[in-house]
Amino acid sequence: MSDVLALARPELRKLKPYVPGDYEPGTLRMNTNESPWRAPGDTTERGLNRYPPPRPTALNERLGEYYGVAPNELLVTRGSSEAIDVLIRGFCTADRDSISICPPTFDMYRVYADIQGAGIVRVPLRRNDDLAADFALDVDGIMASIEAGVKLIFLCTPNNPTGTTASAADIETICSAAEGSAIVVVDEAYREFSSEKDCRELRQRFNHVVLLRTLSKYVSLAGVRCGALIGDPALVEFLGTVLPPYTFPTPSIELVQQAMQGDSIGVANERIAIIRSERARLTETLLGIDGIDRVWPSQANFVFVRVKPRFDLVDRARRAGILVRVFANDTTLNDCVRISIGTPEHNDRLISALTQPEASP
Ligand SMILES: Cc1ncc(COP(=O)(O)O)c(C=O)c1O
Repeated sequence: MSDVLALARPELRKLKPYVPGDYEPGTLRMNTNESPWRAPGDTTERGLNRYPPPRPTALNERLGEYYGVAPNELLVTRGSSEAIDVLIRGFCTADRDSISICPPTFDMYRVYADIQGAGIVRVPLRRNDDLAADFALDVDGIMASIEAGVKLIFLCTPNNPTGTTASAADIETICSAAEGSAIVVVDEAYREFSSEKDCRELRQRFNHVVLLRTLSKYVSLAGVRCGALIGDPALVEFLGTVLPPYTFPTPSIELVQQAMQGDSIGVANERIAIIRSERARLTETLLGIDGIDRVWPSQANFVFVRVKPRFDLVDRARRAGILVRVFANDTTLNDCVRISIGTPEHNDRLISALTQPEASP
């Protein structure tokens, strides 16, 4: 196992963390300058007049249990977006270090790198006329980025926006090659919608492999902003010093605790089954539409399609009151659209908007 912290920003390894005031249930709290009264309408268990715990330890335990990892291998973050930010801030010194990304992919890796002043090595996904092999990782290109000294390698599987998955063998090759040189971040935001194996085994084998998970998609909690970074305990502890205390709010803690109980998980799992079968139905229906020439096989809760120039998919959807995702900033994706899977009724509405003959002028 490599010394994973050797890759961290040296000045942050010496960072003296903030020491928060103590909190002990049953004691009078006159140490943190909070209001002694609850706000009208405050129905939270803890009381919103009190700061949340510096780190949501009970939630850490619950999420660790759900993801099958020890609590000290998991950092709760405000969405997995914050985990991306903390990783880049923790490992990349501005104007010196860089990350590698595999476009087309989640654009926030770029945004957080730009905010931090980190360089970006782009290793585009490989294209192929064969749908099953399209958007594969360019392993040689990523190897070259390791040689060039990138600190973090972001792999997204299933990938946003393509919905495609990276081959397990490719991910393993990259993880082996990066040991001692770079952290491999496998973003598994859409993991629960996929029938393929997750990367937990790789994470256990390699202390430089980090996984990102989120409750934004699976348990219908995008508004709560709860994500998780799963990694080696030493790396998690280090990133815990980079992430300020008190960042995870009390209402979010209490709502997630409720949502991660048996009944809610049962409902979430039933919905996953619906999303998967609707994804198959939507894929098949879209493939039958003359104006659409490609629908990539998706393992996520969306489908990615390529539209023929004469087909006004976006406008047709808009006229039916439906928004789909276009990629105005990316010239390689000008003819592509990402469509999130809705309820069966939502999907029917979209299908009807796309299949209705155009009204004559
Ligand atoms: C691949 C990927 N990673 C991370 C995120 C961030 O999700 P959140 O911050 O809601 O957890 C998203 C959001 O869409 C995503 O598509």
